[in-house]
Amino acid sequence: MFKKCLNFLYKAKKKVNEEIILDHDRPNKYLIELRQIEKIYHTDAGNFTALRGVDLQVNTGEFLAIIGKSGSGKSTILNMITGVDRPTSGEVMINGTAVHAMKENQLAVWRGRNIGIVFQFFQLLPTLSVIENIMLPMDFCNMYQPAERWERAMTLLKMVEMTAQANKLPTELSGGQQQRVAIVRALANDPPIIVADEPTGNLDSKTADAIFTLFDELVSRGKTILMVTHDSDIQRRVRRAITVADGEIVHESAGGSPV
Ligand SMILES: Nc1ncnc2c1ncn2[C@@H]1O[C@H](COP(=O)(O)OP(=O)(O)OP(=O)(O)O)[C@@H](O)[C@H]1O
Ligand SMILES: [Mg+2]
Repeated sequence: MFKKCLNFLYKAKKKVNEEIILDHDRPNKYLIELRQIEKIYHTDAGNFTALRGVDLQVNTGEFLAIIGKSGSGKSTILNMITGVDRPTSGEVMINGTAVHAMKENQLAVWRGRNIGIVFQFFQLLPTLSVIENIMLPMDFCNMYQPAERWERAMTLLKMVEMTAQANKLPTELSGGQQQRVAIVRALANDPPIIVADEPTGNLDSKTADAIFTLFDELVSRGKTILMVTHDSDIQRRVRRAITVADGEIVHESAGGSPV
């Protein structure tokens, strides 16, 4: 089922604006590289160091799991990669683009075309219907012909068995349904990189397994996926996993065993 839908989504791929998707200002060995990332939050209670010199390299086509206890810094790492938040010091290079140095307006369009984000708390727009939420990234980045966007969004919803909810508002959905919408919204622009923060956290084991299968299929088609997960089953099935503790990467494993 995924394959059929994905084949349709790929065949329909036609950008209105045929700009280069990833910049190549600086040749880079890795698709994603974090160099000595430090993140300090300034709060009323004082400064809090959430990341302490994180280095990470990810190659194209990798499926990377990020694991670690609550509060260890997993979402903060993802926010650095997506440019949702900026490091206090250090560099974030994505295929030659210096994400940490980008201006806000450049960043929004760059992100919309290059990275599909599944947020930990979904971040669906409450005033838009489910289908409008999925069409929004295509509208915002002017991807695909306007007439194609609805059908594309419906195909994405079909993959997660959500077509019946297309015209509902996010508040009318269960947590698991909202999560499924958030997952396929991240795929709307067919981005080369997908960053997902506990994308199966609200799903039953059968649906979680289906999402993992979808992600695996995307990786086999050349996508790069970074996924925060507490699911030990998924941790065993990905090719590479890093463990974050107290703002640092403390462990790395491949195929379920330490390297
Ligand atoms: N905006 C902020 N201001 C202050 N502190 C923050 C902020 N965002 C995160 N933190 C702190 O940074 C640390 C790391 O947070 P982060 O959200 O990255 O954790 P996490 O590993 O994703 O946890 P969880 O598994 O619960 O989602 C936590 O101690 C958190 O309280
Ligand atoms: Mg988190």
